[in-house]
Amino acid sequence: MVNRNFAELIQQKKSAGELSEEDISWWIDGLVSGSIPDYQTSAMLMAIYFKGMNAHETSWLTHCVSTSGDVIDLSSLKGVKCDKHSSGGVADTVSIPLIAIAASCGAVMPKMSGRGLGHSGGTIDKLESIPGFDVNLTPLAFMEIVNRLGGAIMAQTGDVAVADKKLYALRDVTATVDSVPLIASSIMGKKLASGADVIVLDVKWGSGAFMTGKAEAIELAKTMVGIGEDNDKTTVAYVTDMNEPLGNAVGNALEIVEAVQILKGGGPAKLLDVILTLCDEILMQSGIVQKREDARTMALNAIASGNALQRFADIVRAQRGDPAFIDRPEVLPQAAVRLPVYAPRSGFVTSIDARGIGLAAMHLGAGRRTKEDAIDLAVGLVLDVKTGDTVSAGHQIATVYARTDDDARTCEQEILGTIVVGEASVAPWQTVVAKISRADGVVTYEHS
Ligand code: URA
Ligand code: CA
Repeated sequence: MVNRNFAELIQQKKSAGELSEEDISWWIDGLVSGSIPDYQTSAMLMAIYFKGMNAHETSWLTHCVSTSGDVIDLSSLKGVKCDKHSSGGVADTVSIPLIAIAASCGAVMPKMSGRGLGHSGGTIDKLESIPGFDVNLTPLAFMEIVNRLGGAIMAQTGDVAVADKKLYALRDVTATVDSVPLIASSIMGKKLASGADVIVLDVKWGSGAFMTGKAEAIELAKTMVGIGEDNDKTTVAYVTDMNEPLGNAVGNALEIVEAVQILKGGGPAKLLDVILTLCDEILMQSGIVQKREDARTMALNAIASGNALQRFADIVRAQRGDPAFIDRPEVLPQAAVRLPVYAPRSGFVTSIDARGIGLAAMHLGAGRRTKEDAIDLAVGLVLDVKTGDTVSAGHQIATVYARTDDDARTCEQEILGTIVVGEASVAPWQTVVAKISRADGVVTYEHS
């Protein structure tokens, strides 16, 4: 771009003008090379925060982010490659059982995952609580395992979508994280660089999500589906509840135990509901089945027959993990202190703020405040109630797993401040509220 100062481009966006493909390419190239300083990018981010981006600008920004680093070549994998992504949440233990179930039904799931931050957990941290499990596979080893077993999970390398690392770090310190085009281009930039043919998105809404409102979450989902489809990826999004924790367990080893419960045919109904909904979509989009009912039957059979659990054990072994924890959870990292938490009064559980529960677990050491923090894989909490349940005074509603008695008592107080027991009955949260695809548009689901 000749004879133009980047300030003019900031001015253009500040005046609600459209940025051209050339403008956006100039910005992202300059951000990565360092020729455009961070303070100018920060100002541009704030202008975008207030003035937004249209669909074309957002798709092009995503394209620039996705090609700013390594682009993963999955062409050595046979079949339709499927990716799944969650916009982040609490007790969101979907990916691990989902990959085992879908892979055992014939899907191809090369999964690159991230670590937890703040109140929200990350699949890679959870897997690291399995003794020996290697999340840093070479691309060759990763492809070999996916070709043989249908699934593997590795840590996203730092070289994918490098522009996103810089943008996210600046958004974090300039209060510009919660912008639909910026979140959509960040998530989809990484997804496009990861090379799958099909992208199934789990977009959370509610207190523990980036999007606290349902309408905003649907808007984010529509934007991401549009970006994926514009870039020739089959992209389908589900909007699901994150007002309360999805599963019961919050904490890394504790969530691995819950993933195993799901694969053994148990586990929390709400968590299973999201897993099966996404699995249906993956099996249909892979061409393994035509109809949702057939996908559901196949997934439930994979669990009932033990095939999904067996596939999980095979993947763990292939990634150098010791699958002994599947039958002996006590070989996973164990917290020194266990403290039951009891309902302070009788009544109805009227809310269990997902963010509050996520932060309580983070304060125990299960999560990180900043990217540099160390975490404790053993600690966390397990809830025994969901919104809408009735409880009697003195009934156990949770268990805290902590390093020290003091930590456990602090967490107990946080849990008691977060789980509200009231007099009036409330309806449970609806788990899956909408499906968004280019073919069908936005389909909202009624409470059933
Ligand atoms: N997750 C991401 O990767 N990026 C965002 O901006 C928000 C959530
Ligand atoms: Ca297209």
